[in-house]
Amino acid sequence: MNELKQACEAFEKLIQEQLDRIANMNCEKTDFATKKTVTIGVVDGDGIGPIITSQATRVLKHLLADEVEKGTIVIKEINGLTIENRMAQGKAVPDDVLAEIKTCDVLLKGPTTTPHGGTMESANVALRRELDLYANVRPVSIPEKNIDWMFYRENTEGEYVLGSRGVELPGMAVDFKVTTDLGTRRIARAAFDYARQNGKNHVAIVTKANIMKKTDGKFTSICHEIAAEYPEITADDYYIDIMTANLLKDPLRQQFKVFVMPNLYGDIITDEAAQIQGGVGTAGSANIGDKFAMFEAIHGSAPRMIERGMGDYANPDSILKAAAMLLRHICRGEAAEKLENAMSACPVAVSYDAGVTCMDYADAVMGLL
Ligand code: IPM
Ligand code: MG
Repeated sequence: MNELKQACEAFEKLIQEQLDRIANMNCEKTDFATKKTVTIGVVDGDGIGPIITSQATRVLKHLLADEVEKGTIVIKEINGLTIENRMAQGKAVPDDVLAEIKTCDVLLKGPTTTPHGGTMESANVALRRELDLYANVRPVSIPEKNIDWMFYRENTEGEYVLGSRGVELPGMAVDFKVTTDLGTRRIARAAFDYARQNGKNHVAIVTKANIMKKTDGKFTSICHEIAAEYPEITADDYYIDIMTANLLKDPLRQQFKVFVMPNLYGDIITDEAAQIQGGVGTAGSANIGDKFAMFEAIHGSAPRMIERGMGDYANPDSILKAAAMLLRHICRGEAAEKLENAMSACPVAVSYDAGVTCMDYADAVMGLL
């Protein structure tokens, strides 16, 4: 009985925190088109993180050299988001590192290791929450198969917001999923705005509302409320299970353009989509909020590559794509296009067998800028 009481108290506290979070949702937007100085933070992370991030930083510094000189862009390298330092301080993102990150407008982040088990939260999840990065935007494009998908994954709520704070009772464990009106409205608006601005006439709303009736039910109905403001766009509901199958089915999959979905489904389906594109190492990922934004590789820190001494052969494609998304987000579209063109024109690829390292590849891309 005592345990039941404790569990109910814990639940009450969690609900109160969530109500406070909604009350404090920040809506002030950074306008990069007019901002006089844009500060780009670079965080290298763990495992292959420093190897790929240092090359992406080199490329950014080269592309933005004139602006760095003029002072309209500042590139700030931030240390300390390593697994060693995070474990030593017992924090997913140590306070001093978070304070440094908050002095920036946007962040390029290398992959960070999340310890299995224990209570240490993923640094990604902590940063998404701390910086209120509510839209996880992941493009997947395979022109030769006529596939051009854009995923809008809700990034601060759902199964993630209380993911490390479930309740355990003897013989039983409970986790929580949270969906709010404000949180859903802003991700839906981001997806429909993207569709409108890019001439896409269809948005797929992907949930499991037949089972998660309260949370996904709310997500679906709010997405339709927002959709009504975009009469030129058709909004259709799909369940996540069949959508994972649809992504493998020609010609149906070519009809999909923009997807909007709660956090966990978005996590899973974007790995599937990236794999269809050629592997999880090939996709970039943007975490966008109204004020801050963070751009990262979609893959992890690959500790096994480091153990095998193959770190120098880590592929920087994903983080370079993320860097291009960062440039576009801060209204440096021309630099973004230069980088994307250089990457697609680059005649070499990272290869252990062919002896092409991460740095060799970055040299080749730089040569084409
Ligand atoms: C992702 C990753 C993260 C997530 C992990 C590292 C916490 O899989 O960015 O998709 O689950 O969101
Ligand atoms: Mg994932």
